[in-house]
Formats: sequence, structure tokens, C-alpha cells
Amino acid sequence: MKTPPSLQALIDDGVIDEVLRPLKSGKEAAVYVVRSGDDVRCAKVYKDMAQRSFKQRVQYQEGRKVRGSRETRAIGKATNYGRKQQETAWKNAEVDALYQLRDAGVRVPEPHGYYHGVLVMELVTDAEGFSAPRLGEVELTPEQAREFHRVLVRQVVLMLCCGLIHGDLSEYNVLVDPSGPVVIDFPQVVSAAGNNAARTMLLRDVNNLTASLGRWAPELFDTWYGEEMWALFEAGELRPDSELTGRFVHDTRRVDLASVRDAINDARELALIRQQGREARDADDGD
Ligand SMILES: Nc1ncnc2c1ncn2[C@@H]1O[C@H](COP(=O)(O)OP(=O)(O)O)[C@@H](O)[C@H]1O
Ligand SMILES: [Mg+2]
Repeated sequence: MKTPPSLQALIDDGVIDEVLRPLKSGKEAAVYVVRSGDDVRCAKVYKDMAQRSFKQRVQYQEGRKVRGSRETRAIGKATNYGRKQQETAWKNAEVDALYQLRDAGVRVPEPHGYYHGVLVMELVTDAEGFSAPRLGEVELTPEQAREFHRVLVRQVVLMLCCGLIHGDLSEYNVLVDPSGPVVIDFPQVVSAAGNNAARTMLLRDVNNLTASLGRWAPELFDTWYGEEMWALFEAGELRPDSELTGRFVHDTRRVDLASVRDAINDARELALIRQQGREARDADDGD
């Protein structure tokens, strides 16, 4: 095909030899199938930042490390400088995440570099070599659905052990190749330690997977893996091979609520006693 302008610089630099065909074009990115020597890969071109909502990103950026305080402040303020820095941080976040997660053994496409704002990576394929279907496009037996759920929950655990939460995990961002699910699409990846919304996002990610796979294996609807792994993570006890039951948190939650209520009541009582003590002392002083 005729080379899209966004990929010309990669051809000029010899990073890729040819653009074979467009794969998908969405709101945020256009993905192309490309050839590098004998390898068929894919190239993800990020759409112009101006077309995307900017403010929404700030929440995701919270807690992600950005060099220097000027950058941090600029991102917070949504200035032009901030917008530019933000765009860079946004694009690099996916590339950084892919390298980090790949090293940690997470099933993600192998990254082959980031050039001129374009991510070149492994093309995930089906058994015939065609681009792999998404999780939402495949029919599964109950056993396959349970196995995929087990594998995907483990991928989320491995990510969390790297301090990362996908943030947009759903059947649209999981591809299925002959050896199982592969997780894609990381530009919004969230830092698990520094973001207030991290727990909510983690639960949403796991929930999306459960909702989608529960169609084939409804017993999955009764599982609570997100809650369980977050509790372990917060306690500093989550390991890549931590055993999860899917039940655990259901009961603990009630216990937690009760103990939170007790703690609040204790604190109130203590405050009341102190207040009464102060009033009594003030009354004595007045005498
Ligand atoms: N490494 C890959 N291998 C095969 N297909 C891919 C790959 N990366 C992306 N795709 C396809 O392109 C689509 C869009 O890519 P994605 O990274 O999800 O970006 P976005 O959803 O932001 O447009 C995916 O749903 C998938 O169908
Ligand atoms: Mg996507």
C-alpha cells in the first residue's frame, strides 16, 4: 500500500521496509501491519493529542513519575507546555510498560522499539498467521473460559507486582493467540502505589474480564479476585505466584466494615472524653 505519512520516517530510517495494510483505526491510534526484513510486525501510530480529551488524562498521570518539578506542574496545569510534555509521557507510557511487563513475564506483544512517535511491536496472530481476534470475538467452552480467566487474573497479578494497573482492561484489549490471551493497549497504564483511583481501576479491570468470561462460565460471577489481590498488594504480600481463591475478600470485607465502624466509634468516644475533660478543666479554671 501507499505509505501513510506517519510511517514514512520509519521507512527512511530503515526501521521498517514496507507498510502492508491497515489493521485497525480507532479513536486514539491507527495500527498497521508492516514488514521489517523477513518479519511481519505491527506499527501503532498515536493520533494527534489535540483530538483527545486532555483533562481526563491528568487523573491517570497522577502518581506516574515525570522528571522534574516543572514538568509535573505543567502537566497539572494543562498549559501548552504541559500538553506537549503530557503527550510525550502518554506515548512513552505504553512503550515503557510493554518492556517492563514483557521482562516480568506478562503475556504482552514483544516491543521492537519506539520511533518518531510510532510503537513497533510483534503482530499477535492466530494459528493461520492472521491478526489475532479479540477476546470478545471468540467462542469459548466453559473450561476454556475458566482457563482464560485464570490466566488473565495471573497477568493482572504480575502487572500489580510491577506496580502497574492496566486501567482499560476489557475484552477489547485482550487478543487470543493459539497459546491463550495476550494483553494489549497500555497508554493509560496506572501506577498502583501513587494513584487514589488505583484500587477502583484494578477492580474495574478484573470486573470487566469476569463479566466478559462469565458469559461462558457463569460461576465466575461469584469470584472476587480483584478485591483479594488488592488486599494482598496493600499488605505488601502479593507475589507473582501468590495463590488466589477468588473468595477470600467477601467475608473479610464485612469484618473490615465492622472494624472500621468500631474504630470510628472509638475515635468519637475518645474525642468526646477529651472534650468533656477540657470543659471540666475550663470550668475549674473559671472558679
Ligand atoms: N500487537 C498487536 N497484534 C495484533 N493486533 C493488534 C496489536 N496491537 C493492536 N492490535 C489491533 O489493533 C486494535 C487497536 O489497538 P489498541 O492498542 O487497542 O489501540 P486503541 O484501542 O487505542 O485504538 C486492537 O484492538 C487489535 O485489534
Ligand atoms: Mg484498544
